[in-house]
Formats: sequence, structure tokens, C-alpha cells
Amino acid sequence: MPETITDPHLLAAIRQELLARTPPSRVPHVMGVEGMAVVLARHWGVEVERALLAALLHDLAKALPPEEQRARLAACTVIPATPEDWECAPVWHGLLAAQEAHDVYGVTDRDVLEAVAWHSTGAPDLADVGLVLYVADFLEPSRNWPGAPEHRRRLQALPLPAAALEVARHKLQNLKTKGRVAHPRTRALRRWLESRLEKGG
Ligand SMILES: [Fe+2]
Ligand SMILES: [Fe+2]
Repeated sequence: MPETITDPHLLAAIRQELLARTPPSRVPHVMGVEGMAVVLARHWGVEVERALLAALLHDLAKALPPEEQRARLAACTVIPATPEDWECAPVWHGLLAAQEAHDVYGVTDRDVLEAVAWHSTGAPDLADVGLVLYVADFLEPSRNWPGAPEHRRRLQALPLPAAALEVARHKLQNLKTKGRVAHPRTRALRRWLESRLEKGG
């Protein structure tokens, strides 16, 4: 079992940095993910402190200009960018945040680092803390597209892997509708969750 993060100073320091960097328009999202991750972790029996830590870290690098994100990508050694990642700008900020979590905040919990690095695509074999963040990032209350409240209630009634599968399917369908190619990690996440659910887990 990874070491539990209990240092409130660490959480406060990350939150402070996150808020200093986040443009006002995105504050409801980052605060929404924080709250949602706590609620969902408790709901699905996942360690709340780890979910909270992952949530606070996940969009830490989001506000960096894309060219600066790309320039820093080669220095990601904790969870390095794959060739597909290099071609997919929306995933860069997660990899950068995981690196910063490790280098600046001393986070060594591999499950939390993977949760942060891969929060926008998901990934096969993601630990429960990663699945919670993946669902929380999608369901947080400031995302208020038509039907969102019903969707939120329906997903929370499912077991965690089934809810994460619904999110992966929804994202894949969205990309297809827009004529965009999905990241291979999202397709691999869907296959992994489908086979996990077929086996009853
Ligand atoms: Fe993000
Ligand atoms: Fe996010």
C-alpha cells in the first residue's frame, strides 16, 4: 500500500500554487474537481487523501502556454511522454504536473503520479485513485452541459470501473463526433475496463 499523504501543509501549498496560476475562468473547474474527487473517493471507498492530492495536482500546469508545455516535455522522466503524447497537446499538462508533483512537492506515490499524468486520457491498469480523478474531472459540478446532473447521478450509482468505462465511452464518442482521433490510452482504458467488468470486477 503506498504511503498515505497526511501533511496538510503540502496540500495547502499545492492549493495555493494552483489558485495563483489558474485563470479566474478555470477556478470553478479546479475547485469542482477537488470537491468531486473527495465525494467520489468516499463514495467508492478509495483513500480520500490520495484522491484529494491527485485532484489538486492534476491541472497545475494547465495554464502554461502550449509552446512552453512542449518545451518542458522532454524533461518528464517520472512518466515520460510516449510518441503519441508528443502529438497530442491536450495531454502535456498532465505529464508536466506529475513531474512537478515529484520534483517540487516530493510526491512518490506512483498511483497518484499516474492519476495526474494520465487524467485526460485515462490508461489501462490505472489504480482506483486514477479512476476517481478521471471520473471527477469529467463530472465536476461546473461542467453543466445539458443532461449533466442526470448523467452525474447515473454514474455515481454505478461501481467505479463501470462509471470510468462510461466516461471513456463518452469521451471516445465525443471525439468521433468531432472527427478527431482518440489517444490510444483511452481506447486501451476502454478495453481494459470492458474485460475487467466481463470478469466480474
Ligand atoms: Fe486537465
Ligand atoms: Fe481538469
